[in-house]
Amino acid sequence: MSRPSLVQAVDPDRPAPEVIARAGVLLREGRLVAFPTETVYGLGADARNAEAVRAVFEGKGRPPTDPLIVHVPTVDAARAVVTEWPNSAQLLADAFWPGPLTLVLPRHEQLPAEISAGRPTVAVRVPAHSVALALLAAAAVPVAAPSANRFGRVSPTTAQHVQEELSGVYDLLLDAGPTPLGVESTVVDLSDGTPRMLRPGGVTLEDLRDVLGEVRHDPRHIVDEHEAASSPGELLRHYAPSTPLVLVEAPQEIADGLASSLQALGIRAVILGLDPDPAEAAKELYASLRRADAAGAAVLLAGTVEPAGLGRAVNDRLFRAAHGRVVLDGEPATVERVAALARTAPSSGGGVGDGPDG
Ligand code: TXA
Ligand code: MG
Repeated sequence: MSRPSLVQAVDPDRPAPEVIARAGVLLREGRLVAFPTETVYGLGADARNAEAVRAVFEGKGRPPTDPLIVHVPTVDAARAVVTEWPNSAQLLADAFWPGPLTLVLPRHEQLPAEISAGRPTVAVRVPAHSVALALLAAAAVPVAAPSANRFGRVSPTTAQHVQEELSGVYDLLLDAGPTPLGVESTVVDLSDGTPRMLRPGGVTLEDLRDVLGEVRHDPRHIVDEHEAASSPGELLRHYAPSTPLVLVEAPQEIADGLASSLQALGIRAVILGLDPDPAEAAKELYASLRRADAAGAAVLLAGTVEPAGLGRAVNDRLFRAAHGRVVLDGEPATVERVAALARTAPSSGGGVGDGPDG
């Protein structure tokens, strides 16, 4: 089914109340509304409405095994969709909500099992964006919203990115300009023993440990999509451009030298060239990936950023976008190695066309 996909510009700080009210009604009617958060744009649906939730999975091409995040405007509304609210949840909510932090807790039965792919838990967050908060308050229902991109692809940080990927899928798109943070929320599992960070994001591991003390983080890169993952965001293939991306974990000069050598051989290489400051890199990451992907290159090269703070989230996304193809510092960084890596794209057929869509 193709939907109208209207686009409505809104002021990011003071969204017009009548526009927000209309969008809230659409959500309550079971329609899909794409909207900005501080991290990336989300594709929203009434989380209590199983049919609307199924339309989100279908529209994204997302497997029904990959659970969605539920967005709410207040801590009280978050508590209403879970059956346990441990002290750790209260501490994190006090410290970081509204903000880029998602908590995984036991799911209340008022939410359909589809939301969390049949798991007994649900992921919930209060986003820090005036448009998102106003919309959630107006809708007055919990709103399931994955990033508004096709499954496995690069996340959207502008309304135009959403239009390019999901036109026909949403009923309304609220365009409030680029999202301020640029990478997704941090996902923390509080449902079982020691808190565990499942996905690095806008709230850093250091921030979490300052509040909770012990927080586990065992980065996993799951190659087999059928393998039971505690969070399918741990899939290695994710956030991926169609052009093969090779990460160069070495000084920038080495990546620059590699690009020149590849060019000299007639292999068109484009360097991602992210800002060395992790917060700036996060902001520009997805738009840069999309731009580089559109440049018609045979291979993309990217350096990693400082692996602390937001840099952890940036490197995580780069690693997954590269499908794990990394030239490490100290390895002979030869064009042969890069060319060989680019050819090992798990399912991107050598870099054109049918990248990981599933
Ligand atoms: O910043 C964000 O979180 C954005 C904006 C729109 O809020 N949303 C987003 O949603 O990134 P999505 O669907 O692209 O990613 C949700 C992540 C996935 O890694 C998913 O596996 C994990 O959260 N997740 C959701 N529910 C879960 C659950 N019950 N248990 C474990 N992981 C869960
Ligand atoms: Mg996503």
